Amino acid sequence: MSERFRVVGGARLHGSVTVVGAKNSALKLMAGALLAVGRTRLTNVPGIVDVTIMAELLRRLGAAVDWDPATGVVEIDVPERIGHRADYQLVRALRASICVLGPLVARVGEADVAVPGGDAIGSRGLDLHAEGLEALGAKVHVAHGYLIAAAPQGLHGADIRLEFPSVGATENVLMAAVLAPGHTRIDNAAREPEIVDIAAFLVAMGAQVTGAGTSTIEIEGVEALRPTEHTVVPDRVAAGSWAFAAATTGGDVEVVGGIAAHLQLALDLLSGAGASVTTTESGFRVVGAPYRPRSIDVATLPYPGFPTDLQPFAITYDAVADGSAMVTENLFEARFRTVQELARLGADARIDGHHVMVHGVPQLSGAPVEASDIRAGAALVLAGLVADGVTTVSGAHHVDRGYDQFELQMQALGAEVTREPDDELYG
Ligand code: UD1
Repeated sequence: MSERFRVVGGARLHGSVTVVGAKNSALKLMAGALLAVGRTRLTNVPGIVDVTIMAELLRRLGAAVDWDPATGVVEIDVPERIGHRADYQLVRALRASICVLGPLVARVGEADVAVPGGDAIGSRGLDLHAEGLEALGAKVHVAHGYLIAAAPQGLHGADIRLEFPSVGATENVLMAAVLAPGHTRIDNAAREPEIVDIAAFLVAMGAQVTGAGTSTIEIEGVEALRPTEHTVVPDRVAAGSWAFAAATTGGDVEVVGGIAAHLQLALDLLSGAGASVTTTESGFRVVGAPYRPRSIDVATLPYPGFPTDLQPFAITYDAVADGSAMVTENLFEARFRTVQELARLGADARIDGHHVMVHGVPQLSGAPVEASDIRAGAALVLAGLVADGVTTVSGAHHVDRGYDQFELQMQALGAEVTREPDDELYG
């Protein structure tokens, strides 16, 4: 039975919300555990569906996985011999499964990973993943919907320049190179905090990695890694979405566990438009402007630029802000599905190529809408809070992939958001 969120408009979010570890790091760390024989322990793992799917993927590769969403602890026990195939059934449910590619090639010398579908947010190539692994000595081809990589003679260090600082490609190359004899240099590497987190994890396992967080990562391959214990970096996208939620509703929210430095640009934009942003002992606090907030122009870019995952929140904010603004998406095509749904709520937003021109209106008007992915879904719930009357957001399962009990977090901040069965025609 599919579910939807029921949102009653008019709430100003007030109180504190806790962010736990980043989904986009936890999933990669789980895959990285395959690099060492023995028991790796991850803490601060978010209690979300994607982690359950990754746990299942690792089990099918032969690992024993204990996952307790209540405590946020995942323990992964990796045997000497592991499998090398990630089936379409799992990969289609979790696009991030592609991150087992690098660890498997490094550990087993081969990997068959189904080519992912995943979030409905435009086409996402795997060419940079493949080119990087080929430079390390693997042969890569696609057959019958699988990306097949094999390195029967083993891998070796290499100089790799990524054409684009792809997060996923950087991670796969990094996780393969740590066990590739010799020196690897990744130029134009992604600089996201999740990359820094994975590198710290690998170093704790005995890998030799320097430069993570800059555009050049250098790796000296080692013979073997040992299991370790690691705490997942806080989720900057979840933290950023609460910052936008506070600013959009004129609320006052402390984001416990949030790291302001990982959201510098987004927080600067919000404070420049009227919000007050301060760091606190345990995170940061955003107090919305006492007047209608001013609109902000946003262009998404790789880190430290404005995160594409926060773009739906920026559009929602601009939809009710004072003034007109341009939101530009530079990372993914067609990641504007929120716009059509916001238009159903009365937003004045027009798509032109990879830009959206948004003219703020004082208030939206509640209506049924549909989530197309995690962030779009959460942004639409936020839109419902600044709409009059009731908004329903179908596709709650998308939001569950990124937020642990989103409606409870919203309720704790004073919002009337509940979950209910969806009365869709064909359910
Ligand atoms: C990760 C995040 C996602 C976030 C994105 C950008 C995870 C699970 N997901 O996705 O939430 O929105 O970073 O911050 O961590 N590209 C290619 N060829 C490649 C690889 C990528 O052309 O081989 C293109 C993609 O089509 C896309 C762009 O590069 O247009 C960015 O992709 P990438 O940085 O790889 O993002 P993901 O790792 O997929």
